[in-house]
Amino acid sequence: MASQSKQITVPQFAALKASGEKISMLTAYDATMAALLDTTGIEGILVGDSLGMVVQGRANTLPVTLGEMIYHGRMVARAVRHALVVVDMPFGSFHCGQNKAIAAGAKVLKRTGCGAVKLEGGVEQAGTIAALVSAGIPVMAHCGLRPQNVLQLGGYQVQRDTEQLMADAESAQQAGAFAIVLECIPEEIACRITETLQIPTIGIGAGVGCDGQILVVNDMIGLTPGRPPRHVRKFADVRTTIGDAVTEYRDAVRQGTFPGAEQTFQ
Ligand code: KIV
Repeated sequence: MASQSKQITVPQFAALKASGEKISMLTAYDATMAALLDTTGIEGILVGDSLGMVVQGRANTLPVTLGEMIYHGRMVARAVRHALVVVDMPFGSFHCGQNKAIAAGAKVLKRTGCGAVKLEGGVEQAGTIAALVSAGIPVMAHCGLRPQNVLQLGGYQVQRDTEQLMADAESAQQAGAFAIVLECIPEEIACRITETLQIPTIGIGAGVGCDGQILVVNDMIGLTPGRPPRHVRKFADVRTTIGDAVTEYRDAVRQGTFPGAEQTFQ
């Protein structure tokens, strides 16, 4: 495992593939959660635009603004000492020309203190990825299911077009991305991409053959209400734990047993 005392750099993160070490990433949106995740030694923390749904309660990620990403990115980057912090470029922030994308990416790096940005796109964003990278902005690409395309897709389906997926992944690498998220694609295609690329693949719903994995933290700790998507494993049931604690607190307040002597000043 990489040293816990030093923050992982972009080249170190990319080199984990060559060393054969599996990469663990999770999302975080605030300092408390980010600091907790960071103590476990995971290699990457993503401030995902999934915050639009997870934190803001919106139907999808499209309304999330650059300012909101910076607000959350700053909180996370401030709390993290070890993991590489990556901040998502929200919908609309990198689609209006390469200069505007560079300005947006630079703003994210300058104002959050994160180590890299992530953007959804493959072949059609290769020019923008290359422009960001040549401006000194490290880019993690995101191919396969792209939640920012939900209106065009009409939902969050598994993406199965092998030729397109291969072309997207190869274009992202060629453009200079240091890693690539593969979301909701068949395991076989993810394995082929992983074998073909020199940069690490980080899977979410892409099978165990990827170089690393990422999940939305609220999903994997069981904080998200309802049935999680198929690619999620619930490693804890925090929703029940919090519900039970709050119910116990409410009863203690009603019964006059909280605060007790230990919580009371004389
Ligand atoms: O926004 C996000 O959280 C993401 C991950 C799920 C990969 O893009």
